[in-house]
Amino acid sequence: MAVLEILEFPDPRLRTVASPVTEFDDDLQALIGDLFETMYEAQGIGLAATQVNVHKRLLVIDLSENKDSPQVFINPEFEVIDDEETEYDEGCLSVPGYYETVCRPKAIRVTAQNINGEQFELEATGLLSTCIQHEIDHLNGKLFVDYLSTLKRNRIRQKLEKEHKKTA
Ligand code: NI
Repeated sequence: MAVLEILEFPDPRLRTVASPVTEFDDDLQALIGDLFETMYEAQGIGLAATQVNVHKRLLVIDLSENKDSPQVFINPEFEVIDDEETEYDEGCLSVPGYYETVCRPKAIRVTAQNINGEQFELEATGLLSTCIQHEIDHLNGKLFVDYLSTLKRNRIRQKLEKEHKKTA
């Protein structure tokens, strides 16, 4: 397994729309291992393949305290089952250091495939719902900063660009 480099806003590669996963093979298994290792190393709770510059519809999540409840969603889709808006202070490994309030529908039904290509379905509310919606956004080239005002988004972009220049 390997820790992969995480792309950071405003990297244009984060705007790529990912393609469906079609091969459920050893390469996919290795990629999933790398995604978890990268996410745990960065102390995140979710990571989409897009964020490591792999443009496949695949994401990993672990909301547990002890990092022992890995969840994999391949080719995930969701429908809203309760559109009451819930607010959450979202952060993102691709927007390091920033947390902003985002409103999303409260409850969703998710359909996805597991590592063996088997279809499964689950209903999610609370943090899991928010997290899945946030990660699926990544697969569609969207970031949580897109929900903020242009002013706020530009301020974050400028600060991160300055950081990137410093570390380049
Ligand atoms: Ni994110």
